[in-house]
Amino acid sequence: MIDEFWTITSTLLEYLKQNLPEGKTILELGSGKGTEELVKNWKVYSIEHDSKWVGVVPQTNYIHAPLTPHKALKRHEGTLWYDRRVLTEQIVKSNLQYDLILVDGPCPPGSRAGFFKYIDYFNTNVPLIFDDINRAKDWILLLSIQNKLGKTITVPHDSHGKAFGVLS
Ligand SMILES: C[S@@+](CC[C@H](N)C(=O)[O-])C[C@H]1O[C@@H](n2cnc3c(N)ncnc32)[C@H](O)[C@@H]1O
Repeated sequence: MIDEFWTITSTLLEYLKQNLPEGKTILELGSGKGTEELVKNWKVYSIEHDSKWVGVVPQTNYIHAPLTPHKALKRHEGTLWYDRRVLTEQIVKSNLQYDLILVDGPCPPGSRAGFFKYIDYFNTNVPLIFDDINRAKDWILLLSIQNKLGKTITVPHDSHGKAFGVLS
């Protein structure tokens, strides 16, 4: 199910279909009903903080990483992000392989600023998609990461009052 308030849009799904071959692997931050569409075409690892949303889509490889306070994050950005110990074990030490990252979480009270702060945990030699960049905080996150990685930004025309950006 897509095109709901919480999910990826059909435009984002179509963009993926055009740009990521079937069978490749997506690392999704923030799971939901939209994940159900992703698993139809790709292998999906989904980092999810909320146990309520873990296990909802059976074909998904869930990485359950509860939100924890991070001193490295500034108060105005929000200091809650995924538990670093879980990410260290399941992404860094396990040398998790993926072909694209979709940043669509965490949701409040979590802060996506953690993705910028802990960018070294991830392989950024793959395309990065940021959902919800119609929101100022998420647009700033995209610009900060673009500035750090020196990648090119593309903003495909989106629908349903939402926008996503791609760094490639
Ligand atoms: C923007 S949602 C992620 C959506 C997901 N990528 C999708 O396409 O369905 C961010 C977070 O909100 C929570 N969430 C997902 N779907 C939700 C819903 N329908 N209602 C409330 N919270 C939801 C989950 O904890 C998720 O990590």
